[in-house]
Parts: sequence; C-alpha cells; structure tokens
Amino acid sequence: MTVQAIKNNLPSSPAFVLNEVELIKNLEILNILRQQSGCKVLYSIKSLPFSTVLAMAKPFVDGFSVSSLFEARLANEILAGSGSLHLTTPGIRPDEIDELSALCSHISFNSLTQHQRFAPGAQAQTSVGLRINPKLSFVKDDRFNPCRKSSKLGVDIDALWQSSTIDNIQGLHIHTVFAATDFAPLLKTIEKIKLYMSDKLGKLAWLNLGGGYLFNQINDHRPFIKAVNQLKNDFGLDVYIEPGKAIIDPGIHLVATVLDCFASDGKTIAVLDTSVNHNPEVFEYQWQPALYEHDAHGRYKTLLVGGTCLAGDVFGEYSFAKPLAVGDRVVFSNVGAYSLVKASRFNGHNLPDIYLSGSGQLKQLKHYTYQAYREQWLADC
Ligand SMILES: Cc1ncc(COP(=O)(O)O)c(C=O)c1O
Repeated sequence: MTVQAIKNNLPSSPAFVLNEVELIKNLEILNILRQQSGCKVLYSIKSLPFSTVLAMAKPFVDGFSVSSLFEARLANEILAGSGSLHLTTPGIRPDEIDELSALCSHISFNSLTQHQRFAPGAQAQTSVGLRINPKLSFVKDDRFNPCRKSSKLGVDIDALWQSSTIDNIQGLHIHTVFAATDFAPLLKTIEKIKLYMSDKLGKLAWLNLGGGYLFNQINDHRPFIKAVNQLKNDFGLDVYIEPGKAIIDPGIHLVATVLDCFASDGKTIAVLDTSVNHNPEVFEYQWQPALYEHDAHGRYKTLLVGGTCLAGDVFGEYSFAKPLAVGDRVVFSNVGAYSLVKASRFNGHNLPDIYLSGSGQLKQLKHYTYQAYREQWLADC
C-alpha cells in the first residue's frame, strides 16, 4: 500500500502504521545473513515489544533478547518455548532472579559483582555469561556510547582478563555501537577480544555480538559472514546478534493530522494531533524525524509542532510544495524504533492507534482507550 493510500484511507489519527512488506523484507535480509554466516538472530524487543511485531519476527529469528522481567515474560508468551531468550541488564533485582532464570535461556551479567551475587541463583538450564566492555568507542555522542568513560555497561575487558570469572562462564556479550552502517567497529571489537582472550574463547559456548548494526543498510555483508565463520570454526562458538532497529526500521510510520495553522514571529506553525511524547527521542536528543511530505525545494516552510503545552514540543521546520491546511495528514517515516515504547500520555493526549498495512488493506491492531488512561492514574485504593 502506498503512503498516499494510507493517508487517504486511515480511519483514525494519529496512528503508527506497520508496513508488513517492509518489515518482512528486513526480516528476510537477516534470515539470509543467518543462512550465509551461521549466526543466530534474536529480535531485541526493547525497540518495540508490540505483539504483532514479535509474532511476525518469530519465524525468522532464533529467539528474542530482553532487558527486564516484563520483557522476558512477554517474549516468553510469544515464543511459547520455541526459541532462545537472552537477557542482559545492569538492573537485575534480587527478587526477580529466580523468575528471570526460569524464563531466560541465556543471561549475560553486566558486572563481576552482579555475576557474583546472582549467578549462583541462576537455574541449571540457564547459560550464564558476562557482558564485556571492550573499551573501544565508536560512537561520538557519549549519550549513545556504551564504551564511554566510566561506562555502566559491561565488565571492563582489562578487569575481566585478570579475573578468574572468565573460567566460570559459558558466554560473552558485547554491544558497542548505535545505528552503525558498516562492520568496521565489529571487526575491531572481535580483534581486541581475540587479542585478550583467544586462549579462553575455545572454552566458551557462545558469543553474543549485540545489536546496533543496520544490517539492511549495509550492502556488503561479506566481512560479517567471514568474521562469524572464523569465530565458529576457530573457537566452536555459537554466535548471536540481537538487532532491534534493523528489524523495524524501515517499516513503521507515524501518521498525524494538522489541527491548527497560524503565523508566529514570521513562521508558519502547524499544530499536529501527535506530539514529541509519541516519539520522545525527538525531544531527548533534539533530532528531526524524516517527513514523507518534505520537499527540499518546497516554497512553504512550516514548523511542525505537537499539540501539548510544552513549548519545546516541536518536530522541526519542513518545506512543502503547497501550504499545509487544517485536516491535512503528514507522515513521519521510519519511526518505529524507540518511539511508541517510550511514549507517554502527557497532557492526557492519547497514544496513537496502531494499524497494519498489508496487501491492499489497513487493519486496526490497537486502540488505547480512556479506560487504559484511567487505570494508569487511579489509585488502587
Ligand atoms: C544490549 C543491547 N542489545 C541490543 C540492542 C538493540 O540495538 P538496536 O536497536 O540499535 O539494534 C540494544 C539497544 O540499545 C542493547 O542495548
């Protein structure tokens, strides 16, 4: 279904629209990579734990990766016993470890102290590993950099090298990049791990290479395939990847409607029925999402803003071929990852509906009701 057809036929707004064709294409790319390299693929559900996405991904992946008990419960419901469930998080609670280890096939503890406290409680069927911080920074913006100075994410590779804990685990987990479009960081990271512990790798069962790579935007997969083959052949490791964004981006779009238009200090303002609270990273990181209608040569510059009372609830200035009018629809493209999962009902503005655009039809998958809002805010007693 074309974007124009979606705009014309969508029964309600604002709405996230899942494009089935695009999402399946992302999954097929990973499936081919899985066949070519022998790596195992997990969907990192933190990017969007929506059940339809999980069910769509399930036939193409070897399992899911999670970061909390709630994610583990949900992933487990969808997997229904058919796939691996990997967990890593700095925030394991003592009262959750029993259930976590009952649900998760693999747990990568985030620190030596976390391992010390919780590994003895992990059940026999859980394969225990450690997340390591290889101390290689590839991300310039420290807000996204797992290897930033004084990072909280993973065991310092130098500390691990000197610790005997490496002899008591079955796997390692690394995750060092954000939205990477080439494999150079991965190859450098693997090289460093080999340099430090090639004598230990053969004793491990698995290596989880994390997420952060946009596999569908990288044309040449050969360096990845070669690296995975080497890890498998040289050390007998099961190699996992756990992409999030690469599975749902491109493919999920946010459709909004113009509620009001006016001029302010010489700029045209268009107020939308969505807000940055439906895509909070726009505000958190001050980035401007791509807009389907934006025309770089368009004469009509317009500031798209959200409909809440926050002054900074602004998506940014876009150019249009013709002026926007009340009732027009606009589409933020490829905004499925880390948007709805972080969204709130600030100002009492409802969350967007969710639709699936399949072959020629739009199907409503979710409508958040006033009851859901009320339930969130009414005290239990
Ligand atoms: C440990 C871990 N694995 C996987 C992911 C998924 O990353 P992405 O959605 O960028 O592929 C993240 C994202 O923050 C992560 O922290």
